[in-house]
This record gives sequence, structure tokens and C-alpha cells, in this order.
Amino acid sequence: MGDQLNRVKVFAPASVANVSCGFDVMGFALERPGDEIIACRSEKPGIRITKVTGEGGALPTSVDENTAGVAAKKLLEHVNSDVGIELEIYKKMPLGSGLGSSAASSVGAIVAVNCLLGSPCSRNELLGFAAEGERIACGTPHLDNVAPSLFGGFVFIRSQQPPDVFELDCPISLFATVVHPQIEIKTEDTRKILHRNVSLQKAVTQWGNVGGLVAGLLKGDYGLISRSLQDVIIEPVRSVLIPGFDDVKKAALDAGALGSGISGSGPSIFALSVDKKTAESVGKAMQDIFTKVGLENEVYVSKINKAGPQILEER
Ligand code: HSE
Repeated sequence: MGDQLNRVKVFAPASVANVSCGFDVMGFALERPGDEIIACRSEKPGIRITKVTGEGGALPTSVDENTAGVAAKKLLEHVNSDVGIELEIYKKMPLGSGLGSSAASSVGAIVAVNCLLGSPCSRNELLGFAAEGERIACGTPHLDNVAPSLFGGFVFIRSQQPPDVFELDCPISLFATVVHPQIEIKTEDTRKILHRNVSLQKAVTQWGNVGGLVAGLLKGDYGLISRSLQDVIIEPVRSVLIPGFDDVKKAALDAGALGSGISGSGPSIFALSVDKKTAESVGKAMQDIFTKVGLENEVYVSKINKAGPQILEER
């Protein structure tokens, strides 16, 4: 008992899923924003959510309805533990933003609980529990937000079930810009409107771009990355939900971005650039367009976050 931890605080990062051509198979972690989760031991066995603050004030505190609660409960079931744990969730990013908000909460919770229990589970095992959190959030246990948030870096999901996930090296100077307009779009809704069938011609274009993007990242070939950041399947359907999308994307490209597209299921729009200075100019240009169409917005400029979640405090 003497050495056991009683309280662990974890930061789990936001993420950009899809990265244009890689619907459900690619994502990367941002340095910020991100959620903070505290897990504390308590007397009563099982998981309880005692606090949800910040931008997630409206989130349920019922464990079975909350992504962090579901993920943490799966972990406890897996290790067959009757320990009592209270979770405090500090939401530091908007819900329904396309920034992987639900994934960050799930990841923060399971990393904190796993640490509290003395790390009985591997990161790969944790991935499965976080995926169950996504199932509650939007109906499908897709991995392209939880995997980057959990592992850090640029992540490729070759298979969802069984999970086959690996990190992609990428150029060290690569910078992301993400602009979040103050509207909410639910991932579950934007998945329902997607076409069930895809023409062979579009499929060929898309998998050509996925291969090109992966090769471009690994080789540090910015021209190839730029040519490959195209989505001919999902973006044309979803972009109509984001006021000013075409102009924001054009502004990003005109300001020097390698490419730009919807972050996850939106409404945030991301861009990738060769360095921080360009990423900042790109952000300014994107913000100007959102402001012109009357949408308040927030910009994040970030390196690809290779560290993933961080333990902020343990005692
Ligand atoms: N791949 C998911 C989607 C990400 O686009 O629906 C959701 O953030």
C-alpha cells in the first residue's frame, strides 16, 4: 500500500483526424489544446465522475454516457479491479469542434487510471478502451483521434479491428494550423450524410493520395505532401456545413500552406506548412475569412506533438 499512487493528473492532446485524404485512417496530435483529467482513489469500488468543468460543462457525469467514464470503466473491467476511482474532467477545448475533444478526454482518463493502478496495461491495450469511448461519443469506435492523442505524432491506422496502428515519421519542421469557428458540428451527424458508395475513379484518386501523403511524410518531400493533401470523397460532402470553407482553404493555400482541409469531421479547418512562420501567416489569413463571414474563431499553431499524453502530477 505504501508506494501506491492516490492521485494522477494527465494532459491529453487534441488531434487532427483524416488529414484530407485519410478518412478514418490518419491523424496527428497537436501540442495544444488538450484536456486535463485527474484520477483519484476513493473508497467506493468503480468509476465515478465527480467534476466536469470548462467547455464541457454540458457533458454527462453518468459514467456510461461519458466517453472518459466508458473508457476508464473498460480498463477497470479488463484488469478485474474493484478499486474505487473518481475522475475530474477539465475540458480545455470546445465540443463538436473537429479537434478530437472526446478522444482527448478518453485518453486522459485511461492514461491517468492506468498510471494510478501501477501501469498494468500497455498503450496498445489502452487504445481499445479509448475506442469504446468514441463509440459512445459518435456511434463508431474509429481510431484516428484516439490513436494520435494516445501515442503522439502522426499515426496511421491500417486496420481498426483488430487494431493495427503505427506512427509515421514526419519532417521535424512541419507545422499545423487549425482554425476553429464557433459553431458545433456533431461527428455522428456528419457521418450519416456520407455517401455509402464511392466510384472506382474517386477511390483510385484517394488511395493514390493516401500513399503519396505517407511517402511524402516519410521522405520529407514537401512537394509530394502538398500534392497529396486532397480529399475527393469526404470533403465535397461535408464542406457545405462549414460557412466560408472554400475561401478559408484558398486563403490558407495562398498564404503558403502545403495543403488544407477539414479537421476531423469539422467545423475546424487545418493546414500544414513547412515552418512556424508560414503556419502563423496561414492562420491569420484563415481567421480573416471566418471573421468576414461573421464567425468568431480561434487559431492554434502547433508542431506535430510527438510526446502524446503527459503526466502532469502524481502523488
Ligand atoms: N474520421 C472521423 C470522421 C474523425 O471524419 O468522422 C472524427 O473526428
